[in-house]
Amino acid sequence: RFNLQSCRTYSTKPLFPTKTIRSLLCEQPQTNVTLRGWVRSVRQQKQLSFANINDGSTLKGIQVILNDAKNAARLSTGACVELQGQLTTSPGKEQNMELQVDKLKVLGECDNTYPLQKKRHTLEFMRTINHLRSRANTGSAVLRMRHAAGEGLQKFFADQEFIQVNTPLLTSSDCEGGGEVFSVAPSDFFKKPVYLTVSGQLHAEIMATSMGRVYTFGPVFRAEESMTSRHLAEFWMAEAEIAFIDELDQLLDVTEANIQQTTQHVMDKCYDDVAFFNQWVDKQLLNRLRTSLDKPFVRMTYTEAIDILQRSNKTFQFPTIWGASLQSEHERYLASDECCGRPVFVTDYPKELKPFYMRANPDGKTVGCFDLLLPGIGELVGGSMREDRYDILQHKMEVAGMNCEDYQWYLDLRKYGSAPHGGYGIGFERLMLWLTGLDNVREVVPIPRWAGHCKY
Ligand code: 4AD
Repeated sequence: RFNLQSCRTYSTKPLFPTKTIRSLLCEQPQTNVTLRGWVRSVRQQKQLSFANINDGSTLKGIQVILNDAKNAARLSTGACVELQGQLTTSPGKEQNMELQVDKLKVLGECDNTYPLQKKRHTLEFMRTINHLRSRANTGSAVLRMRHAAGEGLQKFFADQEFIQVNTPLLTSSDCEGGGEVFSVAPSDFFKKPVYLTVSGQLHAEIMATSMGRVYTFGPVFRAEESMTSRHLAEFWMAEAEIAFIDELDQLLDVTEANIQQTTQHVMDKCYDDVAFFNQWVDKQLLNRLRTSLDKPFVRMTYTEAIDILQRSNKTFQFPTIWGASLQSEHERYLASDECCGRPVFVTDYPKELKPFYMRANPDGKTVGCFDLLLPGIGELVGGSMREDRYDILQHKMEVAGMNCEDYQWYLDLRKYGSAPHGGYGIGFERLMLWLTGLDNVREVVPIPRWAGHCKY
């Protein structure tokens, strides 16, 4: 008879020929260890030579010691090597273990045109050699932390019983109505204009109004002309859409927990990397992250924010009158040490400033929405309660000049069993600025795209 147990064909052998340096650094002393990686630096002395090898799994890599001068001469910065030897306890303070090399194999040589040397290079210089950025500390720390941040966001969603849904990148709608869309495909292919998505929200609403709590995490695209340090043409967003949420305050609770738990996850998983940024980029980083975990975020309405700005006695370039958009100078002031000194939710903006889908407040002037502003960064998250009343939504769409026929599917979600719901979108690169202390989104995405720049 067929027996499922006897069909287990998978092997228990390790899947990879070598362990990562990260895992070797946690092991006990042993002989006959093999590792592979890239040479970061070499220091040749008369008797012994030292090299630092890194495979991307850890910030500091591993120190290896060679007592064969001939072998040491074959090591050059940037080369890819395989080393075999004894893993021993390190007398140095920097790390637990080091490798006494018996055998060296150069897998890929590297000549002296290699642009990365032991000294610190500027972020601007590193951007000119994007394809080599992750061979240096800042670039590789960013990638490990990006991974941990994505994992932290998704762990939060999983713990709270969200379902991940995959929203399309090609779409015929413009969610934010800002017109900052990239057109794609010759118009005869889809028989109508099609764009790269600016947000998965409208599609996520389809799924939330049948599945309850959903999220989508993926790239979005905006034809942003603004060349600021906060804007990319292609960036990642984590978007949550939640049915059966009744009030904006509940949505703020979820957002706050999402950001705090993700921050905690990254600090737990990548402490060395966060400490590296604290040392070299922003000495207040750890302090700021810890404060954001210890104290609740501030909550104020747009009307209160305008009042605070007017009473601040600061000179702003843009007006601070009720009805005007909050500019980045205003957002930064509100979150700064001078004002709140921690993350701030600003809620209930004038309806004219926000997209059609946001739920109208009873005052008739504002909508149930929020922006989360972070110290030093400005807006990290945008979210709102969604208008779930058919007639009001239809009216708002008409006022916004939209063709309601094209969006009948969206109105249908209100026609057939409408549910109170709301959601938010976290800009992933701005989250990375928060976690690293870096101040330009181009540093925290491996291959950035912005106006005039699409190399590789
Ligand atoms: O505030 P936004 O435009 O909100 C939305 O798109 C909603 N539909 C999200 C939702 O409710 N599901 O964008 C959300 C966040 C911003 O707060 C900001 O962090 C980031 O996305 N963002 C950008 N990040 C990098 N480059 C750009 N050009 C960005 N535009 C927005």
